[in-house]
Amino acid sequence: MSVRKVLVLHGPNLNLLGRREPAVYGTTTLADIEARLQQRARAAAVELESFQSNAESALIDRVQRLFDEPVGFVILNPAAFTHTSVALRDALAAVAVPFIEVHLSNVFAREPFRQHSYFTDKAVGIVSGLGPAGYEAALDYALRALG
Ligand code: DQA
Repeated sequence: MSVRKVLVLHGPNLNLLGRREPAVYGTTTLADIEARLQQRARAAAVELESFQSNAESALIDRVQRLFDEPVGFVILNPAAFTHTSVALRDALAAVAVPFIEVHLSNVFAREPFRQHSYFTDKAVGIVSGLGPAGYEAALDYALRALG
């Protein structure tokens, strides 16, 4: 039987959503996004945990805990670590939990350095450019996958 828990991981500066470059990232706060995801998960009787950190090591530590505390699916917005973090990629590969990569903005329509991700080739899929709805699409997929 699949593990009926989803972990949503948010990287650096996503705690500033709502105030941070609203023309790029919109005006929805992280708390709003988390509340919407919680509501959806609860309706499907799936446990959902959200974790945001500005520190690469804290995100890696949280991922490493998945060895001992099973989670069926991860939804990950690595934020700027998308383009830099081999270490976070390695942590996800180590625990081998399926994950979906989410970006609020369309990273492929932005600066060239945002067009490379250390995660995409390991991800089940990627949602980029749909704003907060991208997290909901990813969660819908994960809920279906968990059955
Ligand atoms: C982001 C895109 C990244 O390039 C950027 O560094 C972020 C947010 C997004 O959600 O669009 O912090 O991951």
